Amino acid sequence: MQPHPLPQPAPPPAPPEDLEAQSRPADRVLVGWLWRGHVRQRLVFLIAGVLLMALEGSMLGAFSLLIEPLFDQILVGGRGDMIGWVAAAIAGAFVIRAVASLIHKTMFAWLSEKVMAEMQHALLAHLMRLDHGFFHRHPPGALIERVRGDSKALGGLFTAVLPKVARDGVSVVALLGAALWIDWRWTLIALIGIPLLILPILVLQRIVRRIGVDARIYSAEASTRLDEIFHGIFTIQRSGLEAHEGARFQRVLGRFRKAQVRTIAGSASMGSLADLVAALGFALVLVYGGAQILAGERTVGQFMAFFTAFALLIEPLRSLSALNGAWQTALASLERVYALLQVAPRITQPAGPLAPLPDRRETVVRFEGVHFAYESEPVLRGFDLVAEAGRTTALVGPSGAGKTTVFTLLTRLADPQAGRITIGGRDIRAMDLQGLRGLFAVVAQDSALFDETLRDNILMGAQGVSAARLREVLDAAHVSDFASALPEGLETRVGPRGSALSGGQRQRVAISRALLRDAPILLLDEATSALDARSESLVQQALDRLSEGRTTLVIAHRLATVRRADKIVVMERGQAVEEGDHATLIARGGAYARLHALQFAEPGAVEARPE
Ligand SMILES: Nc1ncnc2c1ncn2[C@@H]1O[C@H](COP(=O)(O)OP(=O)(O)OP(=O)(O)O)[C@@H](O)[C@H]1O
Ligand SMILES: [Mg+2]
Repeated sequence: MQPHPLPQPAPPPAPPEDLEAQSRPADRVLVGWLWRGHVRQRLVFLIAGVLLMALEGSMLGAFSLLIEPLFDQILVGGRGDMIGWVAAAIAGAFVIRAVASLIHKTMFAWLSEKVMAEMQHALLAHLMRLDHGFFHRHPPGALIERVRGDSKALGGLFTAVLPKVARDGVSVVALLGAALWIDWRWTLIALIGIPLLILPILVLQRIVRRIGVDARIYSAEASTRLDEIFHGIFTIQRSGLEAHEGARFQRVLGRFRKAQVRTIAGSASMGSLADLVAALGFALVLVYGGAQILAGERTVGQFMAFFTAFALLIEPLRSLSALNGAWQTALASLERVYALLQVAPRITQPAGPLAPLPDRRETVVRFEGVHFAYESEPVLRGFDLVAEAGRTTALVGPSGAGKTTVFTLLTRLADPQAGRITIGGRDIRAMDLQGLRGLFAVVAQDSALFDETLRDNILMGAQGVSAARLREVLDAAHVSDFASALPEGLETRVGPRGSALSGGQRQRVAISRALLRDAPILLLDEATSALDARSESLVQQALDRLSEGRTTLVIAHRLATVRRADKIVVMERGQAVEEGDHATLIARGGAYARLHALQFAEPGAVEARPE
């Protein structure tokens, strides 16, 4: 077979539909999204919570009002008959306050947890639809941080920001009303500094927001480091890299700490600005009002009343300004969550009518001039392949030739940039995605095991598998051999990523999954490479039986494994350079013959293996 000619300009990879490529959404967009998606439907609940808060707040006012009859009527006026009433009223005010506070705190905690859970669920569902490339650009730790950390930061909106806005907002309005009532001119003079606040607050707000985003990024970086360290812990220990990794982690934490402290200081400085303005206002009123009092236009009592209202106003006002900082940091998280949800899945359901899924007998697999690059470097360069239905086709070739990538594209974990892949003559991109993936049973080069029982790892959610069928599969994949020796047999947990099993045992679990899944197309990527010679030959027999009458694609470095394939395709640097059966290819004396000669020249390497 002629190598496919090199494409002249290599097709550019699809534009990055990625997190960093997005422009920053306006706050209006973010808030609108949060409102429509998570808040609007709970408006009644929210209002009820805020009313309870107001009730809690007003009980302090009621208490202060009760002080007056306590003194004037009872203590001074000597009306002993009223003691019981006033005492009961004061106690009642505190009971109402306690109950209202308990209820609204619980309500807001519930709301916050609910919204966080909803958001995390939506994020995970979305993430699971994204492609291969996305997960290579975004390490698990960073994604975990986005799903968990940023959702949590948002939850603070409901437990910290919103309640304070409600409480302090009510206080500010009430006290401002009182101040205006006493003297509207004094009030205006006192508030003269507020416009001066606007510019610095706007600037601070931007800074806090930016550093807030930075803090989230560093936090994600720290999670990524931890994730990598724990996954690679044995490599680190064996190479004595503990101190090195520790120092790297410390540097990331250092950056995070700096950003975090700056965010908090920035938020706090907004509150301090409010203090400065209050000081200015107070001084001005003192000068202006003082003159009026001296001139006999105003009374000292009026001034004291105004001063009290104004002094009480400062605290909620400053707390509201500081909340702006908390709001900005929550927005920073909201921005990141929103950006993640905006990443468009590249592997999508076809837009038009679905092509019917191929019948078992017509599962011929074709690659026609397929070009593919994970990033900029082309991996498949005009790759052609025909794997006949019901036959076994082997892919061989040097490491990095693109063999696994062929499986990646066939199962649509990524789509090619040019060319076409068909099954039964129909483009796989026109088929229902779930249906397409249901056509394959795969033993991948690095099949994932989950921290569940051995049984769950094999069944992988399959329903209604009879005990006899399961036994048959376990025997064929030689899982029974080691399962019976495990402390709890099939119910033994296999540890994170199957770490409690040996490499060969994990591979046998992956094979048993494929055996159990009675799919029309079988994809085996180095399926038996980790097995000892005896198990390999036994498992190979089971796989051979399974592949009978099924379209099978096998990748193997050990040529002895593929010798009996109906067709062998030799891949080099993303192209098919040779194809034919074993005898033909050996006779041709090309790439395959050279690979073969190399392997069989190694003394005792392959000849010893039974076939
Ligand atoms: N996620 C990825 N991002 C970027 N490049 C990748 C990715 N996966 C694979 N590659 C590159 O694509 C090329 C082909 O990889 P592939 O896994 O298909 O090779 P292979 O033929 O299966 O090799 P092996 O025999 O070692 O398993 C390699 O050069 C590799 O560096
Ligand atoms: Mg591979």
